Amino acid sequence: MTRMTKLAGISLLVLLLSGCSEVNDFKPIAGMDAMDIYANACSSCHGEGGSGKFGILLNIAGTDESIDQIVDKVLNGGHIMPAFPNIDKQQAISVATYLKSE
Ligand code: HEC
Repeated sequence: MTRMTKLAGISLLVLLLSGCSEVNDFKPIAGMDAMDIYANACSSCHGEGGSGKFGILLNIAGTDESIDQIVDKVLNGGHIMPAFPNIDKQQAISVATYLKSE
């Protein structure tokens, strides 16, 4: 493969993945509590209250992950999950605590 076709291939891949990737620009509005942030930022992928989509897919309610791991996931993203740079650490901790309690 020439360098150019390689580059084209990579940009195509990035385009295809960008529907669900890297960085999410969701920004919490002042006064939003953990449930509001969750409902706005996370429920589109993880379902209401972390119950997942289609039953079990991406179910994260009562996850075994620690608060620290969840916070890290929110701030830095996962393999597929986008990062949320506009959610601050304190807010991420409250969302994580909310998820653990569901
Ligand atoms: C665009 C879809 C999407 C959004 C929005 C999203 N996630 Fe995720 N999340 C994923 C995917 C896909 C995975 C599993 C693969 C991975 O790690 O990327 C995941 C994994 C997780 C996990 C790890 C679950 C486990 O038990 O391994 C946690 C915790 C989590 N997400 C929390 C959140 C929180 C909190 C929010 C909102 C701030 C959020 N997610 C928003 C797609 C999303």
